[in-house]
Amino acid sequence: MIDLRSDTVTQPTEGMRRAIADAAVGDEQKREDPSVNVLQERVAALLGQEAAIFVPTATMANQIALKLHTRPGDVLIAEQNAHVVIYEYGGAAAHAGLMTLGLPGDRGRLAPEQVRAAAEPSTKGADQRAAILALENTHNASGGRVWPLDALEEVVATARDVGLAVHLDGARLLNASTALGLQPAEISARFDTVTLCLSKGLGCPLGALLAGSRELMERAWREKHLFGGAMRQAGIVAAAGLYALDHHVNRLADDHDRARTLAQALDAAGVPVDLAQVETNFVQVDVEPLGLERAEAIARLNSVDVGLSSTPHPTVLRAVTHLEIDDEAVTRASELIPEALLAPLAG
Ligand SMILES: Cc1ncc(COP(=O)(O)O)c(C=O)c1O
Repeated sequence: MIDLRSDTVTQPTEGMRRAIADAAVGDEQKREDPSVNVLQERVAALLGQEAAIFVPTATMANQIALKLHTRPGDVLIAEQNAHVVIYEYGGAAAHAGLMTLGLPGDRGRLAPEQVRAAAEPSTKGADQRAAILALENTHNASGGRVWPLDALEEVVATARDVGLAVHLDGARLLNASTALGLQPAEISARFDTVTLCLSKGLGCPLGALLAGSRELMERAWREKHLFGGAMRQAGIVAAAGLYALDHHVNRLADDHDRARTLAQALDAAGVPVDLAQVETNFVQVDVEPLGLERAEAIARLNSVDVGLSSTPHPTVLRAVTHLEIDDEAVTRASELIPEALLAPLAG
């Protein structure tokens, strides 16, 4: 199958498997795993933060961040289709006792005035406290969209002005920095905490980091343990992360180029894609103008051995490029997707 469902589907490469096999390891829970310790230091520096902790998933990193900045009953402000709002199983409520205020975004972005209005104390006289703003870059549900730096700066400044902590779900931050031609820290250093995921475009089997100030990360160690995320010889996985930082960052630009090539080919073939949406490694296809339901479209694609996946929008599918999608796969997918989706409707 040409598996374009997500950049999470990749298998570790031969080189990554060798790095895993050769990993120096120790007891991570005692902070004695050398590979984990090096990875944490490298990622903290990469993100312009003082410290970082290694966790199994980006979801855990986000959930720990929410707990660090809030008390039960506080309000989390986020874009309404953010991962932390719609894909983390209500973790903000379950773990941190937060009420989530999901705001409608534009390409995953929130405007400063939306954040200011949302953070205002309740007009009903209740002492409801908006405590944290969580932003996502790139924004998954809108198609891997990138925040322009000035828009991000403005909204973070507004959040600080109204007393909010600011967290960045940068699961795909390196896609954003690649697209903007910036160092990751130029985006992430302004946040209190930052999540970076290793198992997306970076191609690791699992792993993520949460970065922030030294003081916050000391507290994060405790929260990680409470989540059951304190590990033992985790260097086996951290070694994959170190390998990915050395070998899989520069190639993210290839994923972006291939997504654009695919989008242009689909557009030329008459498949409804929004070319302006393609800023990183996602291509969104709207099957509604073709008179297709989502499930039918996915089934048709599967019948020609191509995998696309659904998005929060009921008629929009996504194709995501990653390190197993080479030029040949793009060329094949450019033929097979139109063949599957543009075939005459039955009956
Ligand atoms: C923006 C974003 N944040 C967080 C996550 C969670 O990652 P994980 O599956 O490692 O928990 C994802 C996963 O797709 C994501 O897209």
